[in-house]
Amino acid sequence: MRKLYVIGIGAGDPDQVTMQAVKAMRAADAFFVIGKGDEKRELVEVRTSILAEHVAGPHRIIEITDPPRERTPDDYAGVVRDWHERRAELLGAAFDEVDGTGAILVWGDPALYDSTLRMVELVLAGGRAFDYEVIPGVTSVAALAARHRMVLHRIGEPVHVTTGRRLREDGLGAGSTVVMLDGDCSFTEIPSDDVHIWWGAYLGMPDETLIEGPLAEVGERIVTRRAELRAAKGWIMDVYLLRRR
Ligand SMILES: C[S@@+](CC[C@H](N)C(=O)[O-])C[C@H]1O[C@@H](n2cnc3c(N)ncnc32)[C@H](O)[C@@H]1O
Repeated sequence: MRKLYVIGIGAGDPDQVTMQAVKAMRAADAFFVIGKGDEKRELVEVRTSILAEHVAGPHRIIEITDPPRERTPDDYAGVVRDWHERRAELLGAAFDEVDGTGAILVWGDPALYDSTLRMVELVLAGGRAFDYEVIPGVTSVAALAARHRMVLHRIGEPVHVTTGRRLREDGLGAGSTVVMLDGDCSFTEIPSDDVHIWWGAYLGMPDETLIEGPLAEVGERIVTRRAELRAAKGWIMDVYLLRRR
């Protein structure tokens, strides 16, 4: 039976690739890379440089162009489901072209805010037969904690991982809160008294930027720095942890 590896490659630093990931990459005949358009070409390039470093070439890289989707729809879940289905069709068609083992290189870890595994399940549900294996990767959350040299939670307390949209809707809960996928600096919309923030952008990449401090003091600086970085590069990826003092 054909096999597909879903390989976590870490959150940007090519040195975060694990030995398990390298072994899986070496067993693959073709690599699927889901491209996000020119602005994020650098994210595709990280993957190709990882292959160049760890796997003897030539590499068969099949780039799948990410289908467009509405960013602020009324029916968020419905739009995302539809987008997953369109991605699954593209992946299924691409895998049909491969006579052997395929691999998808997933940013960070496939289990954290990533739709690849749902996409693979949809491809299987569509009638194709293959086996698949997941290789874990270093998440951007682990990279954030390491770069700030911190533990994600205080002793015995919970840590909540959420999105910018949900932070705006739900507010800040108890314990520590990690916020991902936040294009809107949602930390500006919660009361900042007594809240501390540990923020990181482009973690593990050449433009890595870290800011940490009381939210009331550093919040504006993060907003300004984030806008400058985003304008300079055309895109940004950032993640942060919030905790009441
Ligand atoms: C689609 S999610 C993918 C998460 C990924 N699977 C992981 O394990 O980290 C993308 C979000 O992850 C975070 N992220 C991923 N890589 C990052 C990096 N190198 N620096 C900062 N944030 C990053 C950002 O919050 C970004 O919006």
